[in-house]
Formats: sequence, C-alpha cells, structure tokens
Amino acid sequence: MKTINIALIPGDGIGPEVVEEGVKVLKAIEQLDDRLSFSFTSFPWGCEYYLQEGKMMADDGIEQLNQFDAIYLGAVGYPGVPDHISLWDLLLKIRKQFDQYVNLRPITLLNEALTPLKARTERDIDFLIIRENSEGEYAGAGDRLFKGKPEEVALQTGVFSRKGTERIIRYAYEEARNSGRTLTSISKGNALNYSMVFWDEVFEEIGKEYPDVETYSYLVDAASLYFVNDPGGFEVVVTSNLFGDILTDLGAALTGGLGLATGANVNPEKKFPSMFEPVHGSAPDIAGKGIANPLAAIWSVSQLLDFFDEDKWGAAILSSIRDIINEKEILTPDLGGNASTADVGDRIVEQLKSK
Ligand code: NAD
Ligand code: IPM
Ligand code: MN
Repeated sequence: MKTINIALIPGDGIGPEVVEEGVKVLKAIEQLDDRLSFSFTSFPWGCEYYLQEGKMMADDGIEQLNQFDAIYLGAVGYPGVPDHISLWDLLLKIRKQFDQYVNLRPITLLNEALTPLKARTERDIDFLIIRENSEGEYAGAGDRLFKGKPEEVALQTGVFSRKGTERIIRYAYEEARNSGRTLTSISKGNALNYSMVFWDEVFEEIGKEYPDVETYSYLVDAASLYFVNDPGGFEVVVTSNLFGDILTDLGAALTGGLGLATGANVNPEKKFPSMFEPVHGSAPDIAGKGIANPLAAIWSVSQLLDFFDEDKWGAAILSSIRDIINEKEILTPDLGGNASTADVGDRIVEQLKSK
C-alpha cells in the first residue's frame, strides 16, 4: 500500500471551500484503488489565525510541514490583514523555504466554449508555463527609505542568481526535450538591462546542451500579444517569477478563467515537500456563498498525483473535469451554471467511478 501524507492548508476565503472538494476527490480515489491511501492533516493557518495569534503560521510551522510528502493549499489573503504580510509569511515563505523553484502552470483549453478567443479550439491552446518561483522580482530584496517624507524612496531589487536562473531554464529544456515540444523563453532584455540580459544569455548558453530543442525568445510585451493572437505558437514556456505570475492569469483568461487554473510549486529534487494549489486567490467577493468553482483546486490534485507517479489517476481527474465541462449541467456561476461548489465535487467523484 502506498500512502501519501498530505498537509492541508485550506487558508482564507474560498480556500477551504475548494480544498474540501479536492480532498473529496482524493478520498474517492482511495476507495477505488486498493494500492493507494492518503493521510490528511489540516493546519488552521491563514488570516483568521493571524488575527488571533499575531502570526500567519506556527513558529515551527515549516518544520511541521517538512514531515509531509506534499502540501495542498487553498488560498491565502483576506481584507483585514495586509496582503504583503499574509502572503510573505505563509504562501511565499513555504515556496521559498522548501525551495519550490519550479512553478508548473498548464494553459490548456478543455473545451472551445471556454475561450473568449474567436475560432480557437482545444488544439490551439495547450501549453505549459514554467515559472521561476524562488527569486527574481519576488526575491523580497529592497527597502523603504525616508518613510513618509517627500524624498521617500521605495527599492525593490530583482535577484537573478546564476544558480537560480540556470536551474529553471535547464528544467524547462528537459521538459521540452522529454515531451518533444518547442521551448519559448519570455523576458525583457531591452529595458531590464542587467537581469533580463543575463536571463537571455543563460537561455542561449544552456540551449547549446539541447540542440534538439527548437527555441523561441520573446519580449514579454510582445509575448502577451502572441498569447492572444497566436496561442498555438507556444508549447513549453519558461519565464521569470513576475512575468509568470501575470502571464498565467492571462493564460487563465484564455482557457476559462481562474476557476480552472492550476499550479504546482515543485522542488524537483524532492528534498522538501512540493505544494499544489489553484492559481486563484481567496475571492472575498464570493467567499462563503458556496459558489466558488472547485475545478482549479481539483486539477491541482491531478497535478499532485502526477507528481507521485500516479499519472493514471492524474489523467482520470483531468478527463473527469473535461467531461463535466462538456456536459454543461453541473457548473458554477463563473462558467455560466448554477451549481454549488459541492455539486461540482460530487459530480467529479461520480465521473471518476465510471473511469
Ligand atoms: P482572486 O483570484 O481571489 O479573485 C479574482 C476574481 O476571480 C474575483 O472576481 C473572484 O471572484 C474570481 N475567482 C477567483 N477564484 C475563483 C473560483 N475558484 N471560482 C469562481 N470565481 C473565482 O484575486 P484577488 O481578488 O486579486 O485577490 C484576493 C485575495 O487573494 C488577496 O488577498 C490576494 O493577495 C490573494 N491571492 C492569493 C493567492 C494564493 O493564495 N495563491 C493568489 C492570488 C491572490
Ligand atoms: C500566485 C499569486 C501569488 C504570486 C501571490 C498571492 C503572492 O498571485 O500564485 O499567482 O504572486 O505568486
Ligand atoms: Mn498570481
């Protein structure tokens, strides 16, 4: 029997609502497969915890999480706690402490009805964004000088180390090679004359080891245009932390919105647990109403299973998500339906039973 020990951090807003559905799906799989079991330990960390305890997680939170195989997270951040505190002290802390330097965010259109782009089908929008997830523009290096004075200055320094840049680019080349896809680097060397010139050089240098991989390199502004005009030109994409953050929301908009966008924060060496989470935030505007779309969070479960070499189940979940979208009967309001979060989770479980 293979047991995967999972730490749950449901977090804030719709986080707990969607994580509940992801757990429902894992429990169903456990019933359907004698070989597999999951253990769940839930942590109450988030903004409510902060308001009571004055901190976003327990002091030894990182040590506690380090005991698990994986972390499954809902969302972090809520009005009442400054975002830069809630995110830096929980979500970003985990990504950094556990060296989850690869952020895998598929941009996959599951049904042509989901894209706002005219005359585009599933064949035209199917790529993988590999976002650098440990440094870059989100290194957290900077200062606020002369606070509140007219001469005030805010500094936010991008940090692009050779180690950090090489490893993410190498990961992307490997992914492109192993899957027989092209690789596109997205950067901004014309204006960011230190960091992104360096990025482009590393992309070329490492490329020499991968002569079999066909490459493209675009500036981020032009790439945003191509995402919309010619999404079929992208297969595997590698980009920096900030650009990856923005481009994956754009990618989400092309494929059905944030309710369907997933991301895996991976430490490829498996030295630390990896973390699986939807791309979306806590959605305070719809929290507590039971109408959040759980499909992004359920897709994260599919990524989790792929990561633990349970690709068969990963694929079965994705195919169930595809089925529920094709049926159009049981969808949440963001996808034009009137089903609840729990209805969608239940239907996915029914679909899985028929796989
Ligand atoms: P958001 O992703 O929470 O919401 C943006 C919009 O998308 C809202 O209209 C929301 O209703 C909708 N939406 C998001 N997820 C949805 C779902 N599953 N189903 C249906 N609709 C959905 O982004 P925001 O409003 O910019 O941020 C809210 C809070 O979340 C902030 O505190 C922010 O810092 C935080 N945040 C956290 C994460 C994370 O934990 N990974 C990611 C992004 C934002
Ligand atoms: C995301 C989020 C986070 C990020 C925020 C909440 C810090 O936007 O996962 O896309 O920028 O990485
Ligand atoms: Mn984001």
